[in-house]
Amino acid sequence: MLKEQDPLIELIREWIMAPIDESAGLQLSTLEVFHLVEEMMNEHVKNPHTSRLRKYIPKVKRMFVPLNLMDAVYDYDTFTNFTKRKRVAPTFKEVRHILNLASVRAIAPTLKLITFDADDTIYADGGIITESSEMVSVIVDFLQKGIVVSLVTAAGYPGDPHRYEVRLQGILEALEKIPESAQKRFLVMGGECNYLHVTHRDPESGRVRLRVVDGNEWKDGRGQRWDQQDCDRLLDRAEATLKDMIELLNMPAKIMRKERAVGIYNPTDKRFVYENLEEIALTVQYELRNETIPHCAFNGGNDVWVDIGNKGLGIAALQKYVVSLIPDGVNRTQLDGTECLHVGDRFTRTGNDTVSRDVASTAWVSNPEETALLMGFLVSL
Ligand code: IMP
Repeated sequence: MLKEQDPLIELIREWIMAPIDESAGLQLSTLEVFHLVEEMMNEHVKNPHTSRLRKYIPKVKRMFVPLNLMDAVYDYDTFTNFTKRKRVAPTFKEVRHILNLASVRAIAPTLKLITFDADDTIYADGGIITESSEMVSVIVDFLQKGIVVSLVTAAGYPGDPHRYEVRLQGILEALEKIPESAQKRFLVMGGECNYLHVTHRDPESGRVRLRVVDGNEWKDGRGQRWDQQDCDRLLDRAEATLKDMIELLNMPAKIMRKERAVGIYNPTDKRFVYENLEEIALTVQYELRNETIPHCAFNGGNDVWVDIGNKGLGIAALQKYVVSLIPDGVNRTQLDGTECLHVGDRFTRTGNDTVSRDVASTAWVSNPEETALLMGFLVSL
């Protein structure tokens, strides 16, 4: 299950399944393990560099908000009874759900910006969002509550906001019916951190459309600007590796090169073998390990992409750009990870949502239905 890899979730499951200290025969109950993990996570929020959690998971990312994990465990247990099981440990998915429940509850009082991955998070892979989608009403509710909502997607369509409009038509139609102040709180960050869009009402048609924001207005918030020549050089190396890999694995893939990205996609209607895509993503990551320009190489499920920049930088730029859009944003220069939640479906080593943990609290969903359920709960808090 390559899509289900996470050191924290694995640690929790391991401790439940096996004695924590073999020589002492120390075995903790499911509840005791969650209690210990809650303590360790909250210690990590305060002291990320010296926490016990870091000893167990050296690469553990920052955590911004203390969680009441036990409340989430008890609530989840009322409808699953998973703690009563003696022979079957909680599954990866169950632990992920518990962490999500605790995370959304913890951030609800301070939430100001919510960012969503697109494919497989708000719509199906390669899909579109229609006005009847449950996610549309949830997004509108967030906007009307004063919370900024932005998509942060790898999909990069430089200078072509229409491509995003097509996929987001249901949201844009719903925005036509709400006050302009709320409508303006919806943004789209494309190409991970390369193309920012805001909404505006087209004076002729009255429709809500997307408009590209000039880079000078927001790119400094990302902290970095990159020379196109350096980007081209990195993308050349990535492209060469992608070519070698599809040849090696004998895949009928095609290469697509863009201004800030290069990827392989599937021109056939048969899906690629997931493990082969993993192999390619990990190989490109390794080949580019000494590059100084931030980039991300990821497995998109039926394609592999290398993008300049990453979602952590995209969210960081938004945290600065959107302060003027939040009700109490005056005198603030930026938001932080205690006020920002990123919701995505790819948090493994080859996923492009993982790096969002550098700057935001996160929730890990596995499909748009799960997103709608979790976000419906969050918006009601
Ligand atoms: P995300 O899940 O919203 O981040 O979108 C990832 C998917 O967007 C990839 O798996 C691709 O199918 C698609 N995509 C389209 N254009 C690009 C690009 O320029 N870079 C990366 N992914 C892209």
